[in-house]
Amino acid sequence: MKTDTAIASTEHETEAEAERLFRALLNVDCEPGVKWTYEACRGIAPLTLEINRLKRERNAVILAHSYVGAEIIYGVADFTGDSYYLSVQAKKAAAPVIVFAGVVFMAETAKILSPDSLVVVPDRGSGCSLADSMTGPELRRLKALYPDAAVVCYINSTAEVKAESDVCVTSGNVYDIIQRLPERRILFVPDRLMAENVRLEFQRRGVDKEIISSDGTCIVHDAFAARQVAEARQRYPGLKVVAHPECPPEVAAAADFVGSTGAMMRYVKTTPAPYFLLLTECGLVGRLQSEVPEKRLVGGCRLCPYMKMNALEKIRDALAAPRPDQIITLDPATSARAAHAIERMFALAPTD
Ligand code: 13P
Ligand code: SF4
Repeated sequence: MKTDTAIASTEHETEAEAERLFRALLNVDCEPGVKWTYEACRGIAPLTLEINRLKRERNAVILAHSYVGAEIIYGVADFTGDSYYLSVQAKKAAAPVIVFAGVVFMAETAKILSPDSLVVVPDRGSGCSLADSMTGPELRRLKALYPDAAVVCYINSTAEVKAESDVCVTSGNVYDIIQRLPERRILFVPDRLMAENVRLEFQRRGVDKEIISSDGTCIVHDAFAARQVAEARQRYPGLKVVAHPECPPEVAAAADFVGSTGAMMRYVKTTPAPYFLLLTECGLVGRLQSEVPEKRLVGGCRLCPYMKMNALEKIRDALAAPRPDQIITLDPATSARAAHAIERMFALAPTD
């Protein structure tokens, strides 16, 4: 049974945690158009305290993609960023337990890079329309049609697809890595729209490559339209439009800046402009609302249903006693071949 002092100190701890959370979240939308309140932060404080305690006990590291809820990013995550940054952190982590708040292909990448760690996901249903668009056998059939092509997989792919690839890329290094490959013919999977953006960028750079692609798209970024950009520019003079390379090419062409979620954040933080339109998932908008509240972000973002499956309760459960479906397991041979494609990415990626 708790003593009065223990209860008092727990209450004090909870108040302090609620204040810490509120300082980070007060400018962030907890749902479209609704800001976090102190009461809401007070409501989740016992849970973030419990997760942070469990994390210390288990020597665990929590990696979170910028698209997950701000309460995860600012409440419990140790590292937050884009797919490239998180894969570097997963490799460096050397932690016995890694909780990956993102989507399953990201956690698989962490397991490939830290095979001795227990890697867990809050929700096994957190797929990705790109990663789920192609299986290993499908890529093998496609490779047979283009035996001379270098096979490049976007990191949003399964471990099996990575294992069939010569090199993996992320949104932050896709142009530079493909440009550096000696092969002229490239089989790029699984994002058709990113492949179109690579073709356009290579036209601009004067790079002579043939890019063949499969037919996957991101359900979030595929839904943006050039019309939205034109309307916003009329409404907000001086607007800067920032897009992800998973967007359709006409949207990317209409944007002022196209880059990974990490690069989009850096662009907004360092560019003086009266307004910004972010054509990406709303989690990134939340990060900017928290970190640069003076910037005026004019909406337009969309929700990724997979990223939004992450929740504090599920993180707590995955840390306390992970269910078998929360644990990432990979065939060791597949994992070793997939590691080769990711390590080649690390070797070829530009360093900035
Ligand atoms: P980033 O690597 O740019 O964060 O992209 C990941 C993703 O899933 C975008 O939809
Ligand atoms: Fe996949 Fe798109 Fe969601 Fe990113 S935003 S995880 S690419 S479905």
